[in-house]
Parts: sequence; C-alpha cells; structure tokens
Amino acid sequence: MNIFVPIILIGVLLIVAILLALADFFLKGSGEKTLTINDKTKINVIGDETLLNTLSLNDIFIPSACGGKATCGYCKCKVVEGGGPIKPTEEPFLTESDKKEGVRLSCQVKIREDMEILIPEELLNAKEYKAEVIGITPLTHDINLVEFRLIEPEQMAFKPGQYAQLKVPGIEVIRAYSIASNPSTTNRLEFIIRLVPKGQATTFVHLAMEVGDILTITGPFGDFYLKEDSDKDIICIAGGSGKAPIRAILYYLKDRGMNRKVRYFFGAKTKKDLYYTEEFNNLSEEYPNFQYIPALSEPLPEDHWDGEVGLITDVVDRYCKDLRDAEAYLCGSPGMIDACIAVLEKNNIQQENVYYDKF
Ligand SMILES: Cc1cc2nc3c(=O)[nH]c(=O)nc-3n(C[C@H](O)[C@H](O)[C@H](O)COP(=O)(O)OP(=O)(O)OC[C@H]3O[C@@H](n4cnc5c(N)ncnc54)[C@H](O)[C@@H]3O)c2cc1C
Ligand code: FES
Repeated sequence: MNIFVPIILIGVLLIVAILLALADFFLKGSGEKTLTINDKTKINVIGDETLLNTLSLNDIFIPSACGGKATCGYCKCKVVEGGGPIKPTEEPFLTESDKKEGVRLSCQVKIREDMEILIPEELLNAKEYKAEVIGITPLTHDINLVEFRLIEPEQMAFKPGQYAQLKVPGIEVIRAYSIASNPSTTNRLEFIIRLVPKGQATTFVHLAMEVGDILTITGPFGDFYLKEDSDKDIICIAGGSGKAPIRAILYYLKDRGMNRKVRYFFGAKTKKDLYYTEEFNNLSEEYPNFQYIPALSEPLPEDHWDGEVGLITDVVDRYCKDLRDAEAYLCGSPGMIDACIAVLEKNNIQQENVYYDKF
C-alpha cells in the first residue's frame, strides 16, 4: 500500500472533525436562540451561556445559593426541549423521577439550541434589589438581627415564611436567609443570622458588615410559607435562627387578629440561646389563642430556669396529643426537623400538613 494513503486518510478525518466542530459552534452553540418559558414567554438570547445566567440577564431569578458551582442544587427547573445530556455535576441532585420529568440544574445547562423550559410562576416575582444595611443588633452571643432598607426597587412583596438571597460583596458568595420581618412592611427587610464558625457569609455579616453598606438581595423565594386559606390549628417549632420565618408568620397572623390557635415551641440549649422571649410572651398575653413554649435542653444553674426542660421533641410530645386537624411549620437544623416530624406523625398529624425549611 502507498505510504501516503494513511496520512491522507488521517488528514481528511482531521479536516472533517474540525469542520464538524466549527459547524456545531456556529450553528448550535453561539448565535441567537429562542428560549420559551412556561409555553408563553419567548425571549431571544445569545447561545452558549448557562440557562441560569441567561435567565438572570433577562431579570428572571432562580434560587442559586452556590452561585452556579453545582453544589447547592437550588437552581432546578424543567427543560422540556433542548437541554442536551445531563452532566455528571448534575447527577447528585437529580432523582430518577427528576430525570424522567426533565428537571435540570439551570447553572449547568448551556443554551446551545432553541430551548423550552418550565419554571414555577411565583419565581417570576423574584427580583434583584440594591439594599442598604440600616441596623445590626446582637440578639444572642451568636445571632444578629440585620435590617435592610430596599433602595432599588423600593418594595418587595413576600409571603410569610419565604426567604431571600444575600450576596456578600467582594467574594460574591450568595446565601439564603429567611425573611424575619412583617410581610406588611415591604420597603424594609429583617434577617436573623447565626454565625457559623469559618462560614463565609456569616463571618462577613457578623464581623465585617457595617451600617451603610450596600448589598444585593434577590427574592422572594421558597415554598415554605403560611397556608392562608386554612383554618387549622397551627404548631410552630423552631431552633436557633429558625425563629426567622416563624416570626414573619406570627406577624402576619397577628395583623389578622390571630384567629387561629397557635402553639409555638422554641428549642434552645441554655438561657443565653433564647431571644425575643419578651416579644413572644407579650403576644401570648395579648392573644389567648397564642401560646409560646420555649424549652431548654441543658439549663445551667445560673439560668434559674423554671420553664420547660428537655429536647424540643419531648416537649412537643408532652403538649400535642391529637394533631389530626393541625398543620405544622418547622424551621431549624435537618436533624431537629426530622425528629420533630416523627413526633408530630406519632401524634396523628397528616403528612401533607407538615411544612418545613431545613438549614
Ligand atoms: C431556605 C434557607 C433559609 C435559611 N435561612 C437562614 C436564616 O434565616 N438564618 C441563618 O442564620 N441561616 C439561614 N440559612 C442558612 C444560610 O443560608 C447559610 O447556609 C449559613 O448562614 C452558612 O453560611 P456561611 O457562608 O457562613 O457558611 P459556609 O461558608 O457555607 O459554610 C462553612 C462551613 O460550615 C458548615 N455549615 C454551613 N451551614 C451550617 C449551619 N447552618 N450549621 C452548621 N454548619 C454549617 C458548612 O458545611 C461548611 O463546612 C438558610 C438556608 C436556607 C437553605
Ligand atoms: S446554583 Fe447551586 S447548583 Fe446551580
């Protein structure tokens, strides 16, 4: 065989591969593509950008607590057409049923052809805000109340229990925080933020952030919020900074006359971990329908504690016997929430009436 034949063949194959790659680049990846959202909104977008960034450039904000690094799993949306194959980085966050339904991580999907997606309608309400820090108040040894004034846009409408995302300036770290303020005050937001040792966002919030700083906030997000159309009795259970969304829920109920029966259990280790005790005790005095039950798991002698003692699960078990007609709002660490759900179910709560945010 002529020695040049294999060299010519390899050359031809190389040219074909380069032409195919160029065709893929020019015809698929880059260039203008059409993104169809929820079967109705069509936007022309520049291809080869991630779906998450493309949506944000078009003022549609998907939750994204890791800023697109495929470590939070918050940025899921359904891709009906045009998403390409699932990437290994998405695998840990997608269940088999997610995959069947076309659920993808929007930070990992690139728009390389026309694409159709479905996102929850309420996400279309989320916006990006510039906000000024107007107050930082220590509530305990490791929890601060942080107050913001919204500058642009000036108002955020949110449901009691929802969260927003704060972007830490300089390091561009994004973290979720439940909104702790009254939903009827739409131009100011309050957050209850616990210091996590070596945590990037909370170290900034507790040690570097100052009144007058301007931060970017996006929101509102989340499907943990008060079901307003229900008249069931309410059980709230929180620990640590989990008090934040429950506070917003209670403000909301108070503004409407607190006409549902509410029992609020708050678990802490010692007295120094309690906060807003006076605020909730006053609410109990004002509204006979509301009962605040703080409990300490390890009270110290100097605490002189005469309230409930024990794990919050045991206290809930002691107080709540028949929860057939109740609904529950839980917020705290994953371990605490799982243990509380088991106790609520033991006392006959219906699974579909239990709502929670774990963090
Ligand atoms: C929907 C939602 C609402 C939230 N609302 C609140 C809120 O109202 N108040 C609040 O304080 N936090 C809230 N969080 C938690 C918050 O988003 C951050 O995860 C937390 O503040 C830590 O951020 P960081 O950047 O300081 O720590 P990172 O830099 O993310 O973490 C540093 C280290 O600490 C560990 N770590 C992270 N979070 C915790 C934790 N909570 N406890 C123990 N170890 C941890 C990490 O595994 C890591 O090793 C919420 C989270 C979610 C998902
Ligand atoms: S933004 Fe965190 S996984 Fe996509």
